[in-house]
Amino acid sequence: MIVSPSILSCDFGNVERDTKMLDASEADWLHIDVMDGVFAPNISFGFPILKSVNKHTEKILDVHLMIVNPDHFIKEFVDAGADIITVHYEACTHLHRSIQLIKSFGVKAGVALNPHTPVSVLEEVIKDLDLVLIMSVNPGFGGQKFIESSVAKVEKLKALIEKNNTSVIIEVDGGVNLETGKRLSDAGADALVAGSYVFKSDNPSETIASLKKL
Ligand code: DX5
Ligand code: ZN
Repeated sequence: MIVSPSILSCDFGNVERDTKMLDASEADWLHIDVMDGVFAPNISFGFPILKSVNKHTEKILDVHLMIVNPDHFIKEFVDAGADIITVHYEACTHLHRSIQLIKSFGVKAGVALNPHTPVSVLEEVIKDLDLVLIMSVNPGFGGQKFIESSVAKVEKLKALIEKNNTSVIIEVDGGVNLETGKRLSDAGADALVAGSYVFKSDNPSETIASLKKL
């Protein structure tokens, strides 16, 4: 299992310390939640934090853009250190163009789906994608309750990927813990994002190691 701890739940007074802890852990990627207060009902952080995280880790930076007009900022996110950039289906009028723009910078392109959005909307672009992010909570906050229908959605996405004979990473974000993570793994998830479950645990590195085994 690919594990991508979300720095949204880290201590922002100690970004360097928390990033170094994740860097030394078994985490594969670091998940970076960017929210603009328009697409998502919350504001998180932007380029200065991303640059600071990038300075203290060699891990892959998995950037999740919960913002409107993401095309305006793709180059700046690449310059700040993004390795994977995921935009929301619901925020992109010209999704195909946004995907090609991300790929033109040589980074991996992902599309996120809100809980109400069916996987079928990706039929025409699935072959262009490196990753699909299934939101298992509504965007905005860490620590929310896992939405149960996300497990069946992972199965539907896996079927769509297989039908198209392509290879796309299935990532799931929100309410992930060992119990929900196991069920998502069984359903076909390749990557799990975990924020509060990692940072609120007594030993975040051990928690990451336990998710790795799923
Ligand atoms: C929610 C974010 C998530 C969040 C997950 O808008 O996209 O990445 O950090 O937090 P937990 O793991 O606490 O549900
Ligand atoms: Zn996220």
